[in-house]
Amino acid sequence: MALLKSSCPDLELITRGKVRDLYRIDDNTLLFVATDRTSAFDVIMKNGIPGKGKLLTQMSVFWFNYLGDILPNHIITTEFDQMPEKVQKYRDQLEYRCLLVKNLKVFPVEAIVRGYITGSAWSEYKKKGTVCDITLPEGLKESQNFEKALYTPSTKAEIGQHDENIHPSKVPEIIGDEYANQISDVSVKLYTKAKEYALSKGVIIADTKFEFGRDDTGILYLVDEVLTPDSSRFWLSSNYEAGKSQESLDKQYIRNYLLSIDFDKKTSIELPNNVVTKTIERYIEIYKLITGSIPIFL
Ligand SMILES: Nc1ncnc2c1ncn2[C@@H]1O[C@H](COP(=O)(O)OP(=O)(O)OP(=O)(O)O)[C@@H](O)[C@H]1O
Ligand SMILES: [Mg+2]
Repeated sequence: MALLKSSCPDLELITRGKVRDLYRIDDNTLLFVATDRTSAFDVIMKNGIPGKGKLLTQMSVFWFNYLGDILPNHIITTEFDQMPEKVQKYRDQLEYRCLLVKNLKVFPVEAIVRGYITGSAWSEYKKKGTVCDITLPEGLKESQNFEKALYTPSTKAEIGQHDENIHPSKVPEIIGDEYANQISDVSVKLYTKAKEYALSKGVIIADTKFEFGRDDTGILYLVDEVLTPDSSRFWLSSNYEAGKSQESLDKQYIRNYLLSIDFDKKTSIELPNNVVTKTIERYIEIYKLITGSIPIFL
């Protein structure tokens, strides 16, 4: 059964995002819970995908560890047995899908990095020859790789609104020069390290989204989820061929289904069983390829 909403009455719920429920543990600490809610085009679907929250959490943990030498991250502990008693009480709901994290000030910028041109970037390029208003060479083919990874930030929209792509030069106006520079540099470094690792496992990370936060002393941290099939596009390198769209082991599968039924991008619907099943199969496949282990927690 999908966990659509966590219910932990002895914990203080701060907010429910599209996918995650955040609980306050103390002034500096949050419980970060990935439910099985599924959103696409910023609409939360009526049904969830059983196990998805656990898979996203455990895949993020893999990447947080792998990328830890580039930047500190928000994790305090991933071990359920080390979490406060009041959390352990809800083991049945929460185990494997929650992290104890530092409560940080999250920058209102989604740091998107693209290695390959697809999705909204391909649509903008076809229309205007640009991505995020950055002019690109002529003659790029769909799904072609960029010479250098491209940082294409967007604003982080309030609930019910859509994120808006912005030119990288606009980021300093929102978060100041220093953090804007740090975030653009570190995002490309994180993506590049992950991309090389994934390629060694036969996987292309076409693009991804990072989020960053800072603590009271100003230190920058990697937060949220990292390089999951909800936040990234993964292609098999053995099937890759530029000049067309690619088979994707990630949320693109759901977006493609919704586009095929003329989804209005506003009204929540129930995803059919076969779409739910095929989505989790893809998520499991990418988890196995990237981490080299079987998701025994499911
Ligand atoms: N360490 C942290 N401290 C405080 N807030 C955090 C931290 N890490 C992540 N967040 C925030 O927690 C929320 C997680 O919720 P969720 O993943 O449901 O995302 P969302 O922003 O509603 O939408 P989307 O599904 O498009 O990412 C996000 O707003 C994210 O910025
Ligand atoms: Mg999110």
